[in-house]
Amino acid sequence: MTSGQSHRDFLAIPDFSKDELTGLFALADRMKRGVHVRKPLVGKTIALIFLKSSTRTRVSFEVGVTQLGGHALFLSDRDIQLGRGEPVADTARVLSRMVDGIMIRTFAHADVDELARYADVPVINGLTDLQHPCQVLADLLTIRQHLGTFDGKKIAWIGDGNNVANSWLDAAYRLGFDLALACPEGYDPDATLLARAQKNANVTLHRDPREAVAGAHAVNTDVWASMGKEDEQQARRKAFAGFTVDSKLMSGAAADAIFLHCLPAHRGEEVSADVIDGRQSVVWDEAENRLHIQKAIMAVVIGGERLG
Ligand code: CP
Ligand code: NVA
Repeated sequence: MTSGQSHRDFLAIPDFSKDELTGLFALADRMKRGVHVRKPLVGKTIALIFLKSSTRTRVSFEVGVTQLGGHALFLSDRDIQLGRGEPVADTARVLSRMVDGIMIRTFAHADVDELARYADVPVINGLTDLQHPCQVLADLLTIRQHLGTFDGKKIAWIGDGNNVANSWLDAAYRLGFDLALACPEGYDPDATLLARAQKNANVTLHRDPREAVAGAHAVNTDVWASMGKEDEQQARRKAFAGFTVDSKLMSGAAADAIFLHCLPAHRGEEVSADVIDGRQSVVWDEAENRLHIQKAIMAVVIGGERLG
C-alpha cells in the first residue's frame, strides 16, 4: 500500500485554495494567449481512464498533454482490466509504476478517492457522478474572460442538481460569489456540499427557475439525464417541465448575461436552440477553455509548475 501523501491530486475544487485558484486562472490565461511556452510534461506519460463517454474531456486532455510536451495514454473500459473487474487499488498501484499522472472519468466518486489513495502519482477527476471540477473551473475562466470577474456576480444554475451543479457549489464555497440554483423537487444537489457552500457564500435553492435567473450575470444548465441515468429519461422529461432555459427565461437575467452549458446539449429540452445558438451563448469559448484550464491543472499537479 502506498502512502498517497507525496503527490497532489485534483479531485474537487476545494483541493485548491482561493489564491491557488486565482493563480490557476492566470496561468490558464497565459496558456490561452500563447505566452506560456514551458513544456512541464516533457518525458512524462499521463494515463486517461474513461469508463464513460467523452468528447471534450478526452480531446482537451490528450491535446493538452501533447502541447505540454508529454504523452497521453487513452484507456477505456474496453481496453483495461479495470473494465473487467480488476480492483481500483491494483490498477492504481500498477499505473503508478509506469505513468506520471492519471486522469479518470467514472461513475462512483468513491472509486476516484480510492484510486488517489493507492496511487503514487497525481490523480485528476475528469467527472464522477458527484463532481465535474475541471468543467466548472473552465466555466469560471469563461466568466472571467467575458465578464472580467466572478466577484460580485450572480450565477444561476437551472435544472438537475447533478455533478456539475455540485462542483458549482464547491466553487461558491471557495470563491464566495452568489449562486442561485433552481431544481425540481427530488433533483437537488448534494445536501452536504450545499450546506457547506451556504456557510461561505450566498447560495440559494429555488423551485422556480425565474427566481434563480432574476438579475443573474451568467445562466448555466446541463442535460436532464446525465450519463448513467439514461433509463430515467422519460420520467425526467416530465419532472423538468418548465425548466428549459429559453429566451423568455433569459429575459429575466441581467441584460448582458451570458449563457453557459458544459455540453453535450439537448436543444429543445434543457435549452432552446435560440438561446444556445444565440448572442448570449458562450458555450464554444467554454468548451475551448477546458483545454487551457486543464493544461494549467496538469502543469501544476503533474509538471511541478509553481503558481503566482
Ligand atoms: N463537458 C464535458 O465534459 O464533455 P464530454 O462529456 O464530451 O467530455
Ligand atoms: N452531467 C453530465 C455532464 C456531461 C459532461 C453527465 O454527467 O452526463
